[in-house]
Amino acid sequence: MHDARDELRTERLLLRRWRDADRAPFAALNADPEVMRYFPSRPDRATSDLIIDKAEASFEAEGFGLWAVERLDGERFIGFIGLARATFEMPFTPCVEIGWRLAREAWGHGYATEGAIAVRDRAFAVVGLDELLSWTTVANTPSRRVMERIGMSHDPTDDFDHPRLDAGDPLRPHVLYRLSRERWDAVSSGGR
Ligand SMILES: CC(C)(COP(=O)(O)OP(=O)(O)OC[C@H]1O[C@@H](n2cnc3c(N)ncnc32)[C@H](O)[C@@H]1OP(=O)(O)O)[C@@H](O)C(=O)NCCC(=O)NCCS
Repeated sequence: MHDARDELRTERLLLRRWRDADRAPFAALNADPEVMRYFPSRPDRATSDLIIDKAEASFEAEGFGLWAVERLDGERFIGFIGLARATFEMPFTPCVEIGWRLAREAWGHGYATEGAIAVRDRAFAVVGLDELLSWTTVANTPSRRVMERIGMSHDPTDDFDHPRLDAGDPLRPHVLYRLSRERWDAVSSGGR
């Protein structure tokens, strides 16, 4: 059994370590073209499983990773929300990114923002990070809205072309959002 300290609970969600039973529904959401609309490709089953394996390795090595998310009502797996180190080099790396990917039926309920707030607070209060970053392709408005709702801010001078995407790919221009520990203190103190 994993340590319960790896879990996060919100009003409606449990963020927890991954189980083998998550692998099939995670592969299904990764195969959904609408979920992967803003990504260059859709992970196949092996790649989907690898994301889980890397998340679990990250929890073991770092004490954080991409948490598997389930709704408390019905214990249904709906996707991931979590933290990961950047795997490419840019002026703003090395850094830790906060990110999310939920199954389509879980959109439009505020689950991403609710879980991301818990992950954000864990990142600063327990992991002890000084800054959290997040990035996405310019057109991914739903994800940008989550970044804004959790208190992150966007400076256009930080925008960048993703180094893993080819020149001319419409997904290549990316926006970068940041949240400093000082800003987190200011935005989250009302809830503490
Ligand atoms: C990015 C993603 C997680 C955002 O999901 P989301 O459900 O839009 O985001 P939230 O959880 O913040 O929910 C906000 C929506 O829920 C609505 N909502 C309904 N009930 C709510 C409640 N009780 N509390 C808060 N919001 C609620 C809000 O009005 C808002 O709707 P709107 O976007 O129509 O204004 C989702 O689009 C996704 O998984 N996309 C595919 C993967 C992806 O692109 N990931 C990001 C890569 S960088």
